[in-house]
Amino acid sequence: MFRPIGIFDSGVGGVSVLRDAMALLPHERFLFYGDNANAPYGLKSPEEIRACVRRVVDELLQRDVKALVIACNTATAAAAKELRETLALPVIGMEPALKPAHALLHGGQILVLATPATLHMEKFQRLMALYGEGAVPVEGRGLVECVESGHLDDAAAEAALRAVLAPHLARPTDAIVLGCTHYLFLRRALERIAPGIPLVDGNLGTVRQLRHVLEERGLLRAAGAGGCELHTTGDAEHFLPLMQRLLRA
Ligand code: DGL
Repeated sequence: MFRPIGIFDSGVGGVSVLRDAMALLPHERFLFYGDNANAPYGLKSPEEIRACVRRVVDELLQRDVKALVIACNTATAAAAKELRETLALPVIGMEPALKPAHALLHGGQILVLATPATLHMEKFQRLMALYGEGAVPVEGRGLVECVESGHLDDAAAEAALRAVLAPHLARPTDAIVLGCTHYLFLRRALERIAPGIPLVDGNLGTVRQLRHVLEERGLLRAAGAGGCELHTTGDAEHFLPLMQRLLRA
């Protein structure tokens, strides 16, 4: 059996990256791990996040993955450097898509919606120093919990989004960065609250980078059937059907 690609997140948000990766790389086999028992990472300290990430990565390494995708902005900010320094296999991470959003700046503001942990880590401060003109960081408190419980496009999702965004939307807004992979599943509710404002995410950039790295290292599988396996550290009866639903969303 050919070697799979390991992909993980604190929870179901990473399924949005998995879905895009499967579309771009249809011949690869993906092992997805959602660390749902420990979500949200965004309220933990960097050290706590690194400890969670090490446990998930150990599981994936035991399955002989050929590359690792950190489908989580928060885990990338906390642990990507350590993983790259200690592992021989390619590690692909992600960061809030402030760079592409910056190109949309047109006299208004750019709201960067991400977890509290992401926004407070040094990696994000460096990104802000480069592309932060007009950018306003916004902590997406409550949004990950909303998606983990399956509220994507209902009154609960709208209320959670309003609580976070209402104080900011009175000012002209050129773009909203979805700086957490969970938030992509709130897109429809978000479009009702912030109609006409472009929503920018880093998923496509991440999966293209994955393809590039696999090609470069001669690891790309160019033919044959691919697929995915879903795993959770949480309640499988709740999370596995939710992941299946999100894969089709
Ligand atoms: N999905 C993760 C991200 O992209 C984090 C969610 C969490 O707080 O656990 O940042």
